[in-house]
Amino acid sequence: MNRKGIVLAGGSGTRLHPCTSSISKQLLPVFDKPMIYYPLSVLMLGGMREVLVISTPRDLPRFKELLGDGSAFGVEFTYAEQAKPEGLPQAFTIAEDFLSGAPSCLVLGDNLFYGARLGESIRAASQAMGATLFAYHVADVRAYGVIELDAAGHVLSLEEKPPQPRSGYAVPGIYFFDERASKFAASLKPSKRGETEILDLARCYLEDGCLRAEKFGRGTAWLDTGTAESLLDAASFVHAIQSRQGLMIACLEEIALHQGWLDAVSLEARAASLGKSSYGHYLRRLAEAASANP
Ligand code: DAU
Repeated sequence: MNRKGIVLAGGSGTRLHPCTSSISKQLLPVFDKPMIYYPLSVLMLGGMREVLVISTPRDLPRFKELLGDGSAFGVEFTYAEQAKPEGLPQAFTIAEDFLSGAPSCLVLGDNLFYGARLGESIRAASQAMGATLFAYHVADVRAYGVIELDAAGHVLSLEEKPPQPRSGYAVPGIYFFDERASKFAASLKPSKRGETEILDLARCYLEDGCLRAEKFGRGTAWLDTGTAESLLDAASFVHAIQSRQGLMIACLEEIALHQGWLDAVSLEARAASLGKSSYGHYLRRLAEAASANP
Protein backbone atom coordinates (compact mmCIF):
# COMPACT_ATOMS: atom_id res chain seq x y z
CA MET A 1 0.00 0.00 0.00
CA ASN A 2 1.29 3.50 -0.82
CA ARG A 3 2.82 5.45 2.05
CA LYS A 4 0.83 8.55 3.02
CA GLY A 5 2.21 11.84 4.35
CA ILE A 6 1.21 13.77 7.46
CA VAL A 7 2.29 17.33 8.31
CA LEU A 8 1.74 18.34 11.92
CA ALA A 9 1.39 22.10 11.95
CA GLY A 10 -0.34 22.88 15.22
CA GLY A 11 1.04 23.85 18.59
CA SER A 12 0.91 27.19 20.33
CA GLY A 13 4.14 28.75 18.99
CA THR A 14 4.63 30.59 22.30
CA ARG A 15 8.37 31.01 21.75
CA LEU A 16 7.56 33.31 18.82
CA HIS A 17 4.94 35.50 20.48
CA PRO A 18 3.76 38.15 19.58
CA CYS A 19 4.42 37.04 15.95
CA THR A 20 2.32 33.92 16.53
CA SER A 21 -0.32 35.38 18.87
CA SER A 22 -2.84 35.51 16.03
CA ILE A 23 -1.38 33.23 13.35
CA SER A 24 0.16 29.78 13.16
CA LYS A 25 3.96 29.66 13.22
CA GLN A 26 3.93 27.33 10.20
CA LEU A 27 2.27 30.04 8.09
CA LEU A 28 5.04 32.57 8.77
CA PRO A 29 7.43 33.14 5.87
CA VAL A 30 10.85 31.52 5.70
CA PHE A 31 12.29 34.06 3.24
CA ASP A 32 9.95 33.86 0.22
CA LYS A 33 7.42 31.13 1.01
CA PRO A 34 5.35 29.94 3.96
CA MET A 35 7.17 27.66 6.43
CA ILE A 36 4.87 24.68 5.72
CA TYR A 37 6.09 24.55 2.09
CA TYR A 38 9.44 23.17 3.31
CA PRO A 39 8.16 20.02 5.08
CA LEU A 40 5.62 19.51 2.29
CA SER A 41 8.44 19.58 -0.26
CA VAL A 42 10.13 16.67 1.54
CA LEU A 43 7.01 14.49 1.39
CA MET A 44 6.59 15.30 -2.30
CA LEU A 45 10.26 14.51 -3.02
CA GLY A 46 9.62 11.16 -1.36
CA GLY A 47 6.79 10.52 -3.83
CA MET A 48 3.89 10.97 -1.38
CA ARG A 49 0.84 12.50 -3.05
CA GLU A 50 -1.78 11.94 -0.35
CA VAL A 51 -1.07 14.27 2.54
CA LEU A 52 -2.97 15.07 5.74
CA VAL A 53 -2.41 18.56 7.17
CA ILE A 54 -3.13 18.77 10.91
CA SER A 55 -3.44 22.10 12.70
CA THR A 56 -5.39 23.90 15.39
CA PRO A 57 -9.11 24.67 15.02
CA ARG A 58 -8.11 28.37 14.81
CA ASP A 59 -5.52 27.95 12.06
CA LEU A 60 -6.85 25.12 9.91
CA PRO A 61 -9.03 27.43 7.73
CA ARG A 62 -5.92 29.50 6.85
CA PHE A 63 -4.04 26.36 5.76
CA LYS A 64 -6.99 25.36 3.58
CA GLU A 65 -6.98 28.82 2.02
CA LEU A 66 -3.24 28.59 1.32
CA LEU A 67 -3.04 25.02 0.04
CA GLY A 68 -6.55 24.14 -1.20
CA ASP A 69 -7.28 20.58 -2.27
CA GLY A 70 -3.68 20.16 -3.48
CA SER A 71 -4.48 20.14 -7.22
CA ALA A 72 -2.32 23.28 -7.71
CA PHE A 73 0.62 21.11 -6.61
CA GLY A 74 -0.43 17.84 -8.24
CA VAL A 75 -1.24 16.26 -4.86
CA GLU A 76 -4.26 15.65 -2.63
CA PHE A 77 -4.57 17.43 0.72
CA THR A 78 -6.90 16.35 3.51
CA TYR A 79 -7.27 18.42 6.68
CA ALA A 80 -7.83 17.55 10.33
CA GLU A 81 -7.94 19.46 13.60
CA GLN A 82 -5.86 18.82 16.67
CA ALA A 83 -7.99 20.31 19.43
CA LYS A 84 -5.09 20.61 21.89
CA PRO A 85 -1.33 20.09 21.47
CA GLU A 86 -1.15 16.88 23.49
CA GLY A 87 1.89 15.39 21.77
CA LEU A 88 3.32 14.49 18.38
CA PRO A 89 2.02 10.86 18.44
CA GLN A 90 -1.52 12.24 18.51
CA ALA A 91 -1.00 12.94 14.79
CA PHE A 92 -1.41 9.18 14.23
CA THR A 93 -4.63 8.78 16.22
CA ILE A 94 -6.07 11.82 14.40
CA ALA A 95 -4.85 10.34 11.09
CA GLU A 96 -6.25 6.84 11.65
CA ASP A 97 -9.17 7.16 9.18
CA PHE A 98 -7.05 9.02 6.64
CA LEU A 99 -4.35 6.33 6.76
CA SER A 100 -6.83 3.45 6.73
CA GLY A 101 -4.09 0.88 7.20
CA ALA A 102 -1.37 2.56 5.08
CA PRO A 103 2.18 3.18 6.30
CA SER A 104 2.99 6.85 6.87
CA CYS A 105 5.61 9.55 7.11
CA LEU A 106 5.10 12.31 9.67
CA VAL A 107 6.97 15.57 9.20
CA LEU A 108 6.83 18.48 11.64
CA GLY A 109 5.55 21.69 10.08
CA ASP A 110 8.46 23.73 11.43
CA ASN A 111 11.34 21.52 10.23
CA LEU A 112 13.34 22.41 7.13
CA PHE A 113 15.50 19.90 5.26
CA TYR A 114 17.74 20.51 2.27
CA GLY A 115 20.50 18.51 0.62
CA ALA A 116 21.83 16.85 -2.48
CA ARG A 117 20.65 13.30 -1.78
CA LEU A 118 17.64 14.13 0.37
CA GLY A 119 15.05 12.72 -2.05
CA GLU A 120 17.05 9.47 -2.27
CA SER A 121 17.19 9.09 1.55
CA ILE A 122 13.47 9.79 1.86
CA ARG A 123 12.55 7.34 -0.90
CA ALA A 124 14.77 4.65 0.67
CA ALA A 125 13.13 5.16 4.10
CA SER A 126 9.76 5.03 2.40
CA GLN A 127 10.51 1.56 0.98
CA ALA A 128 11.74 0.16 4.32
CA MET A 129 9.65 -2.02 6.64
CA GLY A 130 8.89 -1.19 10.30
CA ALA A 131 9.97 2.29 11.37
CA THR A 132 12.79 4.61 10.31
CA LEU A 133 14.21 7.61 12.16
CA PHE A 134 17.01 9.88 11.06
CA ALA A 135 20.01 10.97 13.10
CA TYR A 136 21.69 14.36 12.65
CA HIS A 137 24.75 15.67 14.43
CA VAL A 138 24.18 19.04 16.12
CA ALA A 139 26.38 21.25 18.29
CA ASP A 140 23.99 21.04 21.27
CA VAL A 141 21.56 18.14 21.28
CA ARG A 142 19.94 18.85 24.63
CA ALA A 143 16.96 20.67 23.05
CA TYR A 144 16.05 17.61 20.93
CA GLY A 145 15.23 13.95 20.97
CA VAL A 146 18.61 12.18 21.17
CA ILE A 147 19.49 8.89 19.49
CA GLU A 148 22.44 6.63 20.32
CA LEU A 149 23.66 4.20 17.63
CA ASP A 150 26.27 1.43 17.73
CA ALA A 151 29.06 1.09 15.15
CA ALA A 152 26.78 -0.96 12.88
CA GLY A 153 24.06 1.72 13.03
CA HIS A 154 21.70 -0.18 15.35
CA VAL A 155 19.65 1.96 17.74
CA LEU A 156 20.87 1.62 21.34
CA SER A 157 18.83 4.31 23.09
CA LEU A 158 16.32 7.11 22.57
CA GLU A 159 15.87 9.98 25.03
CA GLU A 160 13.81 13.17 24.83
CA LYS A 161 15.81 16.31 25.72
CA PRO A 162 18.24 14.58 28.11
CA PRO A 163 20.33 16.88 30.38
CA GLN A 164 23.28 14.46 29.88
CA PRO A 165 23.01 13.18 26.30
CA ARG A 166 24.54 9.82 25.38
CA SER A 167 25.41 10.99 21.85
CA GLY A 168 25.72 14.10 19.71
CA TYR A 169 22.92 12.98 17.39
CA ALA A 170 19.47 14.57 17.41
CA VAL A 171 16.36 13.00 15.87
CA PRO A 172 14.98 15.40 13.23
CA GLY A 173 11.23 15.91 12.89
CA ILE A 174 10.63 13.33 10.16
CA TYR A 175 9.44 9.85 11.07
CA PHE A 176 8.49 6.77 9.04
CA PHE A 177 6.14 4.24 10.63
CA ASP A 178 4.29 1.20 9.33
CA GLU A 179 0.53 0.63 9.57
CA ARG A 180 0.71 0.00 13.33
CA ALA A 181 1.49 3.63 14.26
CA SER A 182 -2.09 4.64 15.16
CA LYS A 183 -2.55 1.60 17.38
CA PHE A 184 0.79 2.11 19.19
CA ALA A 185 0.09 5.87 19.53
CA ALA A 186 -3.24 5.20 21.24
CA SER A 187 -1.47 3.10 23.89
CA LEU A 188 1.05 5.80 24.95
CA LYS A 189 0.91 7.60 28.31
CA PRO A 190 1.87 11.28 28.68
CA SER A 191 5.44 12.01 29.83
CA LYS A 192 6.37 14.31 32.74
CA ARG A 193 5.81 17.34 30.49
CA GLY A 194 2.18 16.28 30.06
CA GLU A 195 2.40 15.21 26.39
CA THR A 196 2.85 11.88 24.65
CA GLU A 197 6.33 11.65 23.14
CA ILE A 198 7.28 10.63 19.60
CA LEU A 199 10.33 8.74 20.87
CA ASP A 200 8.04 6.58 23.04
CA LEU A 201 6.21 5.66 19.85
CA ALA A 202 9.56 4.86 18.18
CA ARG A 203 10.45 2.77 21.26
CA CYS A 204 7.46 0.48 20.54
CA TYR A 205 9.21 -0.38 17.25
CA LEU A 206 12.63 -0.65 18.94
CA GLU A 207 11.24 -3.21 21.41
CA ASP A 208 9.70 -5.07 18.49
CA GLY A 209 13.11 -5.21 16.76
CA CYS A 210 12.05 -3.21 13.71
CA LEU A 211 13.38 0.32 14.24
CA ARG A 212 16.02 1.53 11.76
CA ALA A 213 17.99 4.75 11.83
CA GLU A 214 19.78 6.54 9.00
CA LYS A 215 22.33 9.29 9.47
CA PHE A 216 21.93 12.47 7.48
CA GLY A 217 25.50 13.35 6.51
CA ARG A 218 27.33 16.67 6.29
CA GLY A 219 25.75 17.41 2.94
CA THR A 220 22.26 17.68 4.41
CA ALA A 221 20.94 20.75 6.16
CA TRP A 222 18.38 20.36 8.92
CA LEU A 223 17.12 23.57 10.42
CA ASP A 224 14.33 24.16 12.85
CA THR A 225 12.49 27.39 13.22
CA GLY A 226 11.31 27.40 16.83
CA THR A 227 12.86 30.71 17.96
CA ALA A 228 13.30 34.16 16.40
CA GLU A 229 17.05 33.46 15.89
CA SER A 230 16.57 30.05 14.26
CA LEU A 231 13.83 31.48 12.03
CA LEU A 232 16.16 34.24 10.83
CA ASP A 233 18.97 31.70 10.30
CA ALA A 234 16.66 29.51 8.20
CA ALA A 235 15.55 32.49 6.07
CA SER A 236 19.19 33.58 5.56
CA PHE A 237 20.15 30.03 4.58
CA VAL A 238 17.36 29.81 1.98
CA HIS A 239 18.22 33.26 0.63
CA ALA A 240 21.96 32.49 0.36
CA ILE A 241 21.49 29.21 -1.53
CA GLN A 242 18.70 30.46 -3.81
CA SER A 243 20.41 33.70 -4.81
CA ARG A 244 23.68 31.90 -5.57
CA GLN A 245 22.09 29.10 -7.62
CA GLY A 246 19.07 30.80 -9.12
CA LEU A 247 17.15 27.68 -8.06
CA MET A 248 14.45 27.59 -5.42
CA ILE A 249 14.35 25.45 -2.31
CA ALA A 250 10.90 23.90 -1.68
CA CYS A 251 9.11 25.18 -4.77
CA LEU A 252 6.24 22.70 -4.63
CA GLU A 253 5.12 23.18 -8.22
CA GLU A 254 8.68 22.54 -9.47
CA ILE A 255 8.82 19.25 -7.56
CA ALA A 256 5.41 18.31 -8.99
CA LEU A 257 6.66 19.11 -12.50
CA HIS A 258 9.70 16.86 -12.04
CA GLN A 259 7.52 14.10 -10.62
CA GLY A 260 5.27 14.35 -13.69
CA TRP A 261 2.30 15.42 -11.53
CA LEU A 262 1.90 18.85 -13.22
CA ASP A 263 2.49 20.00 -16.78
CA ALA A 264 3.71 23.30 -18.25
CA VAL A 265 0.15 24.54 -18.88
CA SER A 266 -0.96 24.11 -15.26
CA LEU A 267 2.30 25.68 -14.08
CA GLU A 268 1.65 28.72 -16.28
CA ALA A 269 -1.86 29.06 -14.81
CA ARG A 270 -0.49 28.77 -11.29
CA ALA A 271 2.16 31.42 -12.05
CA ALA A 272 -0.52 33.79 -13.29
CA SER A 273 -2.43 33.38 -10.02
CA LEU A 274 0.65 34.42 -8.00
CA GLY A 275 1.00 37.81 -9.69
CA LYS A 276 4.29 39.69 -9.53
CA SER A 277 5.95 37.84 -6.65
CA SER A 278 9.44 36.37 -7.12
CA TYR A 279 7.85 32.93 -6.62
CA GLY A 280 5.39 33.67 -9.46
CA HIS A 281 8.23 34.82 -11.76
CA TYR A 282 10.16 31.65 -11.00
CA LEU A 283 7.15 29.50 -11.93
CA ARG A 284 6.70 31.44 -15.16
CA ARG A 285 10.34 30.74 -16.12
CA LEU A 286 9.89 27.06 -15.26
CA ALA A 287 6.72 26.86 -17.36
CA GLU A 288 8.48 28.50 -20.34
CA ALA A 289 11.43 26.10 -20.06
CA ALA A 290 9.09 23.12 -19.73
CA SER A 291 7.04 24.04 -22.81
CA ALA A 292 10.25 24.64 -24.84
CA ASN A 293 11.60 21.17 -23.79
CA PRO A 294 8.55 19.05 -23.07
O1 DAU B 1 12.37 19.39 15.82
C1 DAU B 1 12.68 18.06 16.15
C2 DAU B 1 12.26 17.74 17.58
O2 DAU B 1 10.82 17.89 17.62
C3 DAU B 1 12.65 16.30 17.97
O3 DAU B 1 14.06 16.19 18.07
C4 DAU B 1 12.02 15.91 19.30
O4 DAU B 1 12.28 14.56 19.57
C5 DAU B 1 10.50 16.12 19.26
O5 DAU B 1 9.89 15.86 20.50
C6 DAU B 1 10.19 17.56 18.86
O6 DAU B 1 10.69 18.40 19.91
P1 DAU B 1 10.16 19.90 20.12
O7 DAU B 1 10.48 20.35 21.49
O8 DAU B 1 10.68 20.75 19.00
O9 DAU B 1 8.62 19.74 19.97
P2 DAU B 1 7.53 20.86 20.00
O10 DAU B 1 6.66 20.62 21.17
O11 DAU B 1 8.16 22.22 19.86
O12 DAU B 1 6.69 20.56 18.70
C7 DAU B 1 7.26 20.47 17.40
C8 DAU B 1 6.27 21.04 16.38
O13 DAU B 1 5.05 20.29 16.37
C9 DAU B 1 5.86 22.48 16.65
O14 DAU B 1 5.81 23.15 15.39
C10 DAU B 1 4.50 22.40 17.23
C11 DAU B 1 3.94 21.14 16.65
N1 DAU B 1 3.06 20.43 17.59
C12 DAU B 1 3.59 19.99 18.77
C13 DAU B 1 2.81 19.26 19.64
C14 DAU B 1 3.39 18.76 20.94
C15 DAU B 1 1.77 20.15 17.24
O15 DAU B 1 1.30 20.55 16.17
N2 DAU B 1 0.98 19.44 18.11
C16 DAU B 1 1.45 18.98 19.30
O16 DAU B 1 0.68 18.31 20.04
